[in-house]
Amino acid sequence: MIKKQLAKYGILFLSVLIGLASCKSKEEIGLKDAFKDTFLIGVAMNSDQIQQKNKDVNDLILKHYNSIVAENCMKSGIIQPVEGEFDFSLSDQLVCFGEKHKMFIVGHTLIWHSQVPKWFFVDEQGKDVSPEVLKQRMKTHIHTIVNRYKGRVNGWDVVNEAIEDDGSWRNSKFYQILGEDFVKLAFQYAHEADPEAELYYNDYNMAKEGKRDAVVRMVTKLKEQGITVNGIGMQGHLMMDFPEVEDFEKSIIAFGSTGAKVMITELDLSALPNPFSTEGAEISLRADYEEKMNPYPNGLSKEQTEAQYKKFVDFFNVFIRQKDIVSRVTLWGVSDKDSWKNDWPIKGRTDYPLLFDRDYKPKPVVETIMKMTPNP
Ligand code: XIL
Repeated sequence: MIKKQLAKYGILFLSVLIGLASCKSKEEIGLKDAFKDTFLIGVAMNSDQIQQKNKDVNDLILKHYNSIVAENCMKSGIIQPVEGEFDFSLSDQLVCFGEKHKMFIVGHTLIWHSQVPKWFFVDEQGKDVSPEVLKQRMKTHIHTIVNRYKGRVNGWDVVNEAIEDDGSWRNSKFYQILGEDFVKLAFQYAHEADPEAELYYNDYNMAKEGKRDAVVRMVTKLKEQGITVNGIGMQGHLMMDFPEVEDFEKSIIAFGSTGAKVMITELDLSALPNPFSTEGAEISLRADYEEKMNPYPNGLSKEQTEAQYKKFVDFFNVFIRQKDIVSRVTLWGVSDKDSWKNDWPIKGRTDYPLLFDRDYKPKPVVETIMKMTPNP
């Protein structure tokens, strides 16, 4: 009897010890812990971060994020700059890093009209290649990359930005040469190379009605044809006055109704004025620098800081409310200092779009959103 009781208390004592060992102090708890039962929380890594040049930044990534994606190094222009010559140096490092730390690794992006090398579409005379040649090039590109990371990269942004805001097809070279079939082919090639990997369609301005409806139609049609499309990525390059959070939520629900998972793939919230009359993230659009377009070179005003805090909270409220549909939220960069928004669409501005400031300190909103989750 006494032996039995000793054994019981021994087990109890051990479980408390194990519990204590796995318990994190408040300082150690990161976003990924707070969101562990909600959705994955990811970050885009630039080349310095992939090479782990700064230990503090590295530690920050490991503390807060359980999913990673390459900001640039897996894009076609970087990974296959010359036909048949693949450069996997950075992408290999990214995938090793993710595997080592048991992160959900996303490959971005296989087929995209931007950051694509010229050779992809032309023959030796510089003329557009035939549909057959383009298909072959897409197949080789997708098979080579997806196959290299088979069973290691968990999900791929297979096609990026194929649809315009009004729902029409983007008149890209892929579309001009192959018509809408290029999307279906890209998903087929990716699925052939790794049948286990999740496959996504990814785009910006997904809260716009025309694009929302067209993406729902496209994904539904692909699925009816037996094509694997596991998820729809909403880029989430937000501005202070666009989009309305209600429209964003409508799109999450509409995309979810196709049976696909939804992920917020490239979240940032610019505090700067938009030089264009349209919104979005078409990276070839650029405007010249003007001082009035860079209103906060030395820090955001109090008003803007508060407005941004509120906007982040509003959006995270929606993401959390839609957690049964949303499987991941990925920030497009670690800190304000790293953000592409400092140089796009106008080079040389000072923007504040991320959750960590220029000194890699969490903004107050980080603690707030961590408390909004079911397990803060
Ligand atoms: C951006 C990168 O952040 C920049 O470093 C690069 O110069 C241009 O591309 N949509 C996408 C991302 O899908 O790949 C883009 O990333 C931003 C818009």
